[in-house]
Amino acid sequence: MPTKAALSHIPGPPATPIIGHTLTIARDSYGTQQDYIQRYGPVYKTKMLGVWRVNLCGADALEMVLLDRDRIFSSEGGWDALKRIYPGGLLLQDFDHHRRNRRIMTAAFRANAIRDYRVRMTEAMETLLEDWPVGTPSCFYTAIKDLTLRMGGAVFMGLPLDGDLAQRVNRAIQDEIRASVAVIRRPVPFTPMWRGVRGRRFLRETFRKLIPERRANGGDDFFSQMCLARDENGESWSEDEILDQFNLLIMAAHDTTATTLSVMIAALGQHPQWQDRLIAEVNGLADGPLDDGALAQMTQTNNVFREALRLVPPVPFIPRLATRDFHWKGFDVPAGTSIALNPGVTMLSPELFSQPTVFDPDRFGPDRAEDQRHKFAWTPFGGGAHKCIGMHFSTLQVKLFVATLLRNRRIRLQGSAPHWHRMPIPKPKGGLPVILDRV
Ligand code: HEM
Repeated sequence: MPTKAALSHIPGPPATPIIGHTLTIARDSYGTQQDYIQRYGPVYKTKMLGVWRVNLCGADALEMVLLDRDRIFSSEGGWDALKRIYPGGLLLQDFDHHRRNRRIMTAAFRANAIRDYRVRMTEAMETLLEDWPVGTPSCFYTAIKDLTLRMGGAVFMGLPLDGDLAQRVNRAIQDEIRASVAVIRRPVPFTPMWRGVRGRRFLRETFRKLIPERRANGGDDFFSQMCLARDENGESWSEDEILDQFNLLIMAAHDTTATTLSVMIAALGQHPQWQDRLIAEVNGLADGPLDDGALAQMTQTNNVFREALRLVPPVPFIPRLATRDFHWKGFDVPAGTSIALNPGVTMLSPELFSQPTVFDPDRFGPDRAEDQRHKFAWTPFGGGAHKCIGMHFSTLQVKLFVATLLRNRRIRLQGSAPHWHRMPIPKPKGGLPVILDRV
């Protein structure tokens, strides 16, 4: 890791001893970044949680680092903080090793498997939505997290929606997620990291026992598909590889979708004309289960989804570690430097998006296509080798949810427009109270 002296030629705000810029960024990560970009330009340094980082801002930086044509930037090194809980997952692998495993994972996402997930997901959503309170305020964020976790039990693991095992598994997943963003990084008893390590152990023991049966009999959930997945050369995963890859997959899938659905519901409550447009779109679909054709027709819903991801991306920062020296926009950056990319602030840049803080899904329509102004203007799913492998799956999940909900519920927001905690995982302040009315 380079010292502060090795980065002395890179501009940046004065740092408070020991804590650096941690508190300022934690308090208002977007505002602080926007201020630093204005003062120091698109390349500046900050110190977070004891580590000096070089921030490379804007769409050009996202393109250069994520496409990584010279194989300089390590995702494993960047996401080092996840290593204790999620070692061996795709995000914590690089270059050829990552490519090999990504090919095997891709097999679990093949089109017909996703079609099976759709059937499972529709059934699970309908059942779970039936339980939601009608006509009285309830906290949408808590409810959607619960729904996505329980649905995940069915779709990802092939477990019954409400069994005791599903509940214990879900608790362990939540403990892992909390540990992955914990400030105390050692498993001191009763801290979040300690619970996360225990959760990881429990999940590994539980799922290891299921592997022989799933390998023998298959199943149309993700875990079974991962037990069977082979790339085009016939390569498959060992038991440990399945467990590590699966563990990261469920984390990557969980909070991201729950956050985005919350942003969408808040926006539909705040902008009734958009709720009406989506209701009309959903009412225009044929009755019964939604097939690929019906989902493809949901273009307005897709634009609302894309706008929600632009305004409150679940992954607003992408970290990498430079494995070699490199030069960018006039600066030499030494090997070993932690790099921070900022898709979140980039997607609020007025050079790329008109009136960037305004909710305006029509900006993605063919006549405006603002996301096409730069190849890396709209990057909530990242890009390059590590681009989100669940992108199509999450689009499917969101469309199914919106259609299932709006077929028989209307959304009323309680109170004023919600504000969002941006870090470490975006979520609505106050939990997003809403009333769902039966149609
Ligand atoms: C709205 C939903 C989602 C968003 C915004 C999102 C965002 C992202 C981003 C930004 C990355 C790249 C991180 C990097 O380059 O460092 C990523 C990677 C990943 N995502 Fe997603 N994600 C979402 C949903 C999902 C779902 C539903 C799944 C699984 C079904 C998933 C599985 C993964 C995996 C396994 C990776 C690592 C890929 C690799 O390293 O090759 N994500 N996601």
